[in-house]
Amino acid sequence: MKLQVIDHPLVSHKLTVLRDKKTPSTVFRQLVEELIMLLSYESTRDVEVVDKQIVTPVAPMTGRAMATPAPIVVPILRAGLGMLEGMMKLMPTAEVGFLGLKRNEETLEAVTYANRLPDDLTGRQCFVLDPMLATGHTLIASIDYLLERGARDVTAICILAAPEGLATLEEHLGDRANVRVVVAAVDDHLNEKGYIVPGLGDAGDRLYGVVD
Ligand code: URA
Repeated sequence: MKLQVIDHPLVSHKLTVLRDKKTPSTVFRQLVEELIMLLSYESTRDVEVVDKQIVTPVAPMTGRAMATPAPIVVPILRAGLGMLEGMMKLMPTAEVGFLGLKRNEETLEAVTYANRLPDDLTGRQCFVLDPMLATGHTLIASIDYLLERGARDVTAICILAAPEGLATLEEHLGDRANVRVVVAAVDDHLNEKGYIVPGLGDAGDRLYGVVD
């Protein structure tokens, strides 16, 4: 597994506003979209491209265009949905599949409650969107799911990660070169309730409000 922390002043600025508990949902949603566009730019650096013959108004040339089949973007419901718009603005030809995973608040294990993905992902490049890499269980379940169905590589894009979750993920994945995790920051620790500290609170609630 490869970890990439995006060290950029605009990312730091947006992240600080995002973390502030005074930031309302409307601004929070907008900032998540902007942040994901910045993170996606780096995350998609290895997207497969092929030569493409075109003719400019001046001369023929060989350009490069995204290969087909297109990459698959997989937002993890519900908080990952807030990241989808920014990703699709950057890569509008990507396909989108959905995974619904939530954590059991007692065991902190991931439970799958929805799945809308092709069964065969052979050779596909996949991008998992999940804002908070806390215990790592949700990402492990998602990445395993995609790799077991043949995904060529998986890039997880997260806003924040906890060191504990990263360690769990690393232990599970070992040195698999085809998994990459891209984050805006690695925070201090996880608290006893599984929240990232200092974090930004419950990402789903801050995006969409509290639902029981
Ligand atoms: N999920 C969240 O939304 N926030 C955390 O801090 C941890 C998991």
